[in-house]
Amino acid sequence: MDASLATHEPVMLETVLRFWDRDGDGIYVDATYGRGGHSAALLARLGPTGRLYLLDRDPEAVAHARARFAGDDRVAVAAGAFSRLGEFAAAWSVVGRVSGILLDLGVSSPQLESPERGFSFLRDGPLDMRMDPATGPSLADWLAGVDERRLAEVLERYGEERHARRIARAVLGARRRGRLRTTGELAATVAAAVPRHGSRLHPATRTFQALRIVVNGELDELEAVLPQAARILAVSGRLLVLSFHSLEDRIVKHFFRSPRRGEPTREGLLPLASLAPEPVERRRNPRARSARLRVAEKRREACTCSAA
Ligand SMILES: C[S@@+](CC[C@H](N)C(=O)[O-])C[C@H]1O[C@@H](n2cnc3c(N)ncnc32)[C@H](O)[C@@H]1O
Repeated sequence: MDASLATHEPVMLETVLRFWDRDGDGIYVDATYGRGGHSAALLARLGPTGRLYLLDRDPEAVAHARARFAGDDRVAVAAGAFSRLGEFAAAWSVVGRVSGILLDLGVSSPQLESPERGFSFLRDGPLDMRMDPATGPSLADWLAGVDERRLAEVLERYGEERHARRIARAVLGARRRGRLRTTGELAATVAAAVPRHGSRLHPATRTFQALRIVVNGELDELEAVLPQAARILAVSGRLLVLSFHSLEDRIVKHFFRSPRRGEPTREGLLPLASLAPEPVERRRNPRARSARLRVAEKRREACTCSAA
């Protein structure tokens, strides 16, 4: 399938818009464009002087955004990792002026569904998994150098995989025998290594999730972007983070935590909401099942005081 044509159903769309859209003339950032489900809905409400800045590290997502909004002067598109959000915001001249920032974490459906991107355990493809295929080691590179202990640790930590050790042993065994060349071989190796108890999940689900997180440095990216996002917001601007993994959500929750009830954080943020999708959305869209939306509002500029 041509990945640029595949769609992605935006998660918690109405709720995201309710918090994100403050001001039809405001400046907005979507740092995880994907296929622009949230962005297109925001843009439909934005007036002629409103601005929407789009970012994604995946060149296919960026190409999609450029083609889709080519004639729209309100939109600017950039390619890169959101851990450089401060840099992009400076280039766009929007530091301290942004009304709302959306981070919709993880991967998009087109990424997952394109075998050649190497994210899917259901389709055979290269061991890649990089959101930006031009940057950093691929999954094949990472697996070529990893030892059993580190692999088990990654599977346990990022995949919460109970059979981490068993899988790590089997994967390195397959590597030794030259049977670890594609996502299909990896998925089959994992499936053969773990007992099946009629779980609805494919046995390689957790392994693939863990490897994706490590290949893309996803938790480091999140840790890096949050303070930059807080900094570029205007006072009364909002930061929205949609996460799909308990470790991501923990990072966001911690970052949004007020020192005292009702008092903003060091970065000037006050948590506003923590919401899960309605059951009807969870039933309709499997991607929404583990989603959590956290929203914080900037109440003042960052505190420059030294730690108390
Ligand atoms: C869940 S999808 C976003 C879907 C989008 N909200 C929509 O409605 O179509 C996540 C997107 O964020 C991008 N992404 C993930 N981590 C990123 C990062 N650290 N920097 C930039 N883009 C990132 C992925 O490439 C993917 O396209």
